[in-house]
Amino acid sequence: MIFYLNGHYVPRESAMIPVEDRGFIFGDGIYEGVRAVGGKMFEWPAHADRMVKGLNGLRINFNAEQVNALEGVCERVVQENGLTDGEAFLYLQVSRGAAPRGHNFPPASTPPTVFVSASKLVVPRKMRDEGGSAITFPDMRWKRRDWKTVNLLGNVLARQAAFEANAYEAILHEDGIVTEGAATNTFAVFDGVLRTHPLSTRILHGVTRKVVMELIAELDLPILEEAIPLALLPSADEIFVCGSTTDVTPVVTLDGTPVGNGKPGPITVKLREAFEARLYQAAGVSR
Ligand SMILES: Cc1ncc(COP(=O)(O)O)c(C=O)c1O
Repeated sequence: MIFYLNGHYVPRESAMIPVEDRGFIFGDGIYEGVRAVGGKMFEWPAHADRMVKGLNGLRINFNAEQVNALEGVCERVVQENGLTDGEAFLYLQVSRGAAPRGHNFPPASTPPTVFVSASKLVVPRKMRDEGGSAITFPDMRWKRRDWKTVNLLGNVLARQAAFEANAYEAILHEDGIVTEGAATNTFAVFDGVLRTHPLSTRILHGVTRKVVMELIAELDLPILEEAIPLALLPSADEIFVCGSTTDVTPVVTLDGTPVGNGKPGPITVKLREAFEARLYQAAGVSR
């Protein structure tokens, strides 16, 4: 496996970072997760835009031009790993770099650590088609969830709880409302109307969510961008979660109880199909 690290394409065995890297010590960095189909990055500009916002938010010295240049790096990493023909997941991370430990920023001359990896993505078709299960879990994260920081403790604990419950995702809630999934955005359908948390600092501005919103507009489906009360969620007719490796995945069981009739609902299926059409058409390949 070949990684990109600080300007070099290196085998995994020789990809090393200093132990004082602030990504390791403080979780002081920003990451992105991008889907590649047929060697092409899906919705790259939206990922780059979000990465720039996060880096600016953390005041890390890595500008928009440098972020944009990572698209070519991603394409090369995909090629180096022989993933141009199929589906891949790109992981990009920029940390504030390595320096003796101290909460305040290191000198401005400290170079950020820049890392990109690509791995083969095996799409779980059965779950896309038949749906998966989710649990509900308290949202314990910090207050700037719109910045995709590498510190993911709230997400990690939630996903582990889901894993231990044999569920695919944990749907997070705080103050009695649903925020999003541990690594996905959450939608529900009530009486034919879609509902999802509005864009704010309380959720990640998912790229898949953005595409789903565009498809909802194209298909002229009714949508309410309003937080879903946790107490209402079990009575939803349909629930789905979406993300760069999740696409649109129906949630057919919530906390062990069927959602609606326990099968993917018609609105979810319509959006899943429209999303997949967009994803594969963008790359000029069929599913
Ligand atoms: C907390 C959270 N919400 C939503 C998403 C989905 O975002 P995207 O569609 O950009 O992958 C992710 C993806 O990692 C995430 O970690």
